[in-house]
Amino acid sequence: MLTLTVDGKEIQAKKGTTLLKACLDNDIYIPNLCYIDGIEETAASCRLCFVEIEGEEKPVTSCTVPVKASLKVKTDTPAVRRLQKTALRLLLSVHHVDCKNCPANKKCALQDMAKFLKVGLKPGHLQHCLKEPEIDTSHPCLDYYTNRCVLCGKCIQVCLTHNGQPEITFARRGFNTVVSFFGTAKNEKDSCDECIRCVDICPVGALVLKSSP
Ligand code: SF4
Ligand code: SF4
Ligand code: FES
Repeated sequence: MLTLTVDGKEIQAKKGTTLLKACLDNDIYIPNLCYIDGIEETAASCRLCFVEIEGEEKPVTSCTVPVKASLKVKTDTPAVRRLQKTALRLLLSVHHVDCKNCPANKKCALQDMAKFLKVGLKPGHLQHCLKEPEIDTSHPCLDYYTNRCVLCGKCIQVCLTHNGQPEITFARRGFNTVVSFFGTAKNEKDSCDECIRCVDICPVGALVLKSSP
């Protein structure tokens, strides 16, 4: 085990663990969306899990840094919070906030993060843009809510890990990026019905079983 210091407290972590995992395992919360416990290759796409490490010029994403003995880490500096709040506000500026009609209400990573960072769920001064269509109903057993999706990629990653080749992928680019299904011709209905790991891993309410409200 390695010993490192986070926010003035000594914690222990196994060699090879990422800093994010080490902190989360020690009940030190760092906002994150794209990290999946147990899957090593992180997309590092959400840009939320910043920390400051003594000796480093700028904040770094904690999901990409392996723990080292004697690291001195701060999770709560003004620079870290500024970056996290900016990333969260950008996500919310393209998000349809309608919590009371959302299956993720009260178990939603965005709600948790907004509360933790003291950022309002409504986008404030940033322009609010939403995508069309709001719901993709093309999959036989799942509906995809475009404007709830935070593009974390977790659904794609778990599908790939479980099936060897994913049934879902990202499509389009930039603001128009969405999660997309590879058609509905295969035996997706049966295989997806028995799996639904993508629904379970989604940190928001973007993937919903058709039978759900
Ligand atoms: S995904 Fe979260 S923040 Fe968005 S509407 Fe659902 S509960 Fe609210
Ligand atoms: S559907 Fe959910 S898990 Fe998939 S990219 Fe969107 S937010 Fe992430
Ligand atoms: S959890 Fe580190 S960039 Fe998303």
